[in-house]
Amino acid sequence: MIIDCDPGVDDAMAIIAAARWADLVGITTVAGNVPLEHTTANACRLRSMLGLDVEVHAGADGPLVGEQEFARHVHGETGLGDVVLPEPDRGPDSEDAVAYLVETTRSEEGLHLVPIGPLTNVALALRADPGLAHRVASITLMGGSALGVGNVSAAAEFNAFADPEAADQVFRSGAKLRMLGLNLTHQVRMGAIHAAECQTIGSPVGDAMAGLLEFYTVFHLAEEDVADGPVHDPCAVLAVTHPELFTLEARSVQVELAGAHTRGMTLVDERGPWATAEANCEVAYGVDADAVIALIMKAVREA
Ligand code: RIB
Ligand code: CA
Repeated sequence: MIIDCDPGVDDAMAIIAAARWADLVGITTVAGNVPLEHTTANACRLRSMLGLDVEVHAGADGPLVGEQEFARHVHGETGLGDVVLPEPDRGPDSEDAVAYLVETTRSEEGLHLVPIGPLTNVALALRADPGLAHRVASITLMGGSALGVGNVSAAAEFNAFADPEAADQVFRSGAKLRMLGLNLTHQVRMGAIHAAECQTIGSPVGDAMAGLLEFYTVFHLAEEDVADGPVHDPCAVLAVTHPELFTLEARSVQVELAGAHTRGMTLVDERGPWATAEANCEVAYGVDADAVIALIMKAVREA
């Protein structure tokens, strides 16, 4: 798989999970939770810490239209909470994620593309080469939501909201799409208990994960008065590596671009036979959360 990400606390967890469970071919970065310079630096530091032999290519530093929305209040000023990872052994392999996505999916067909940040890079790659949609085995993304669950607004999830035009392009691309939205990821929660367990591992990855989870827990304690938070991004990785743990259903999904209150919403048609448009996406509704969390913790222990 190729992961397109905006690390990001839960993006970091997704990369740790992919290092253990996936055949990770490459990483592309996009502005999202924090500016591109930080998401790229974090991806390079994670690559080094995990000893991954993969390329990292930096991509878009903002959305197709409008201004970038960041989520520093959730992920901290530089994106990994207050965790400071060691300097990377090297920086990004290029600043052209789009070229990397187009060329790599040409040279190796059947890759899964796993976007877990705003979809700007993916949309630009599809514009550059629409055939990409049919060369990849799937675009399995963390983003959007079914059943009206929003986070950055009452209607919209952050990744879709940050670049609705890009999300619209991806949902209309004709690719085999799988959407792990907030309605799914809110079922998979980790926090103080898992942080304490990671603390006992005594490895750089265990310490990093403990720090990420502690930071995340503090945020959710303050915001929701609960000592855990949804680990969104690893769900997209594990939906590819362990599909048996997820329940998905075919749906027609449209991205709202113009709504005064709903811009960035992924409108999922739940009307069954009355749905007006053909299904363009497999939407995730169910998950064996305990099994997913166990796989994440095992990945941390064995990193
Ligand atoms: O809404 C959750 C998503 O937005 C996650 O990918 C998180 O990392 C942020 O990018
Ligand atoms: Ca993310």
